[in-house]
Amino acid sequence: MAALGKLDTANLNGGQKLAVKYFTVAVILFGAQILFGLLAGIQYLKPDFLFGILDFNVNRMVHINALVVWLLFGFIGSVYWMLEDESGIPVVGLGLGNLIFWIFTLAVAVVVVVYLLIQVGPGNESTIWLINEGREYIEAPRWADIGIVVCVLTFFYNVAATFAKGRYTGVGGVLVLDLIALFGLYLAGMFYTPNVSVDQYWWWWVIHLWVEATWEVLVGCLMAYGLMLTLGVRRKIVETWLYIEVALMFGSGILGLGHHYFWIGTPEYWFTIGGFFSALEPIPLVAMVVHSVFDAGAHKMKNTNHPALAWIIAHAFGNFFGAGVWGFMHTLPQINLYTHGTQWSASHGHLAFFGAYATLVIAFFYIALQKWRGNVWMSGGIAGAWRWKWAMILLTLGMIGMTMAMLVAGYEQSQIERAIEGSGWMGYFTAQAHHWFVQGMWWRQIFGWMFAAGFVLLAWDLITIGRGEKRPALQHAELAIA
Ligand code: HEM
Ligand code: HEM
Ligand SMILES: [Fe+2]
Repeated sequence: MAALGKLDTANLNGGQKLAVKYFTVAVILFGAQILFGLLAGIQYLKPDFLFGILDFNVNRMVHINALVVWLLFGFIGSVYWMLEDESGIPVVGLGLGNLIFWIFTLAVAVVVVVYLLIQVGPGNESTIWLINEGREYIEAPRWADIGIVVCVLTFFYNVAATFAKGRYTGVGGVLVLDLIALFGLYLAGMFYTPNVSVDQYWWWWVIHLWVEATWEVLVGCLMAYGLMLTLGVRRKIVETWLYIEVALMFGSGILGLGHHYFWIGTPEYWFTIGGFFSALEPIPLVAMVVHSVFDAGAHKMKNTNHPALAWIIAHAFGNFFGAGVWGFMHTLPQINLYTHGTQWSASHGHLAFFGAYATLVIAFFYIALQKWRGNVWMSGGIAGAWRWKWAMILLTLGMIGMTMAMLVAGYEQSQIERAIEGSGWMGYFTAQAHHWFVQGMWWRQIFGWMFAAGFVLLAWDLITIGRGEKRPALQHAELAIA
């Protein structure tokens, strides 16, 4: 162990050294995501802004693809982070894992540069191969798609082989099975069909079954580890909760897929199936809130890492409100008929992605920094604690503000465009010109700046937290993970 308070990779095990590389790229892409979100938001207010240079569709694409990729980098990093702690042995095949990190990062950089500099192609096979595939959220061109598959197969090999050789734990078992499903689903978004309904049918397998099933299970595993680490919760307790949550999550999330099949040309039975099962989806999310609040209470909030625990709790509530409540609001077909594809969806999309996923990855950034600085004190009385607290306040309030602004705009669209004007072409424009909509878009932008300020503070805090700290981390009486 090097000196306390100094950033030194000698403090980390092999998997963790790789994890902090993934985290570094994740933070940079998070920044890029926010930048392009702000540009797209300005274009809602001033449609001429950057017209012909960086059009709205390009900014929007970079915004949401950067989101997906930074979260994936954050997840992969988090898994590498906990891998040796959980399995009790060094990562198997780490050299390969390191190589793949550089290839993956380089490929992402090339794809972004192509998005920005080339933007459009002839609209034939070469466009799909070289520029983008045109599938919202996973627009990577086909060469990169194939590269991504190779990279994640290597990552999966690292994880599965390490658990196979080392200690078996409940968290490890759930994680390995979940990763098979998570990465297997990516293949559903890779083949081309000229029928848009068929294409969307499969594309939702990636998008919905990722965020509402396999990603949820993955963050369940990460939360279990996070609670053991920060609060010292006993393994038996977190693993029992994990099994319950996983069962509920898969039980509702898989057929909940039907809530995306209402209006794309699929058979009518999806109304019933999608409406019913997706209405059950909030239940596991309630279980996750109860779980984390129960654990925090049982341990009297006595924890080894204040910022990480604060973000874990934000995750439990953000997941419940963003996915559970905001998702439930528009998931019944009777309601979705009016809200489908309005700002209402964007309101839910923002709160859910941030609340469920961004929060937990940020918690892992703090877990990593603590150990990277030699396992320093991060409980009460951290020097410069205002920074992480204000970063959290600005990010959270910024996101809540954006969500509310979009919700108002979405209500207005549902009312005027759909209910009154009957979903026609004119109705669309009447709704977009209405002052509730326009004001909503302004407020989205204003709270977007607040969110961006929170990000700047977060980045600053991640660079400085624990610097020069001389106290070692708080120790729990017994080590929960072992
Ligand atoms: C963390 C989990 C979740 C995330 C990240 C998430 C994210 C999103 C996003 C980004 C969209 C917009 C997709 C598009 O571009 O068309 C969407 C749509 C939707 N989500 Fe979620 N969601 C989550 C969980 C849920 C849950 C639990 C429910 C139901 C209880 C739900 C119900 C819906 C519905 C009904 C739509 C379709 C909206 C429309 O018709 O336009 N979501 N979700
Ligand atoms: C500076 C803050 C941000 C601004 C100004 C912003 C702005 C925007 C804009 C203008 C769009 C396009 C909406 C449309 O097509 O109607 C968008 C889409 C989206 N953004 Fe953001 N964004 C910000 C931050 C975030 C964050 C932090 C997340 C998630 C963690 C996020 C997730 C999404 C998602 C999922 C979509 C697609 C929504 C859908 O199609 O329904 N954004 N954002
Ligand atoms: Fe869904």
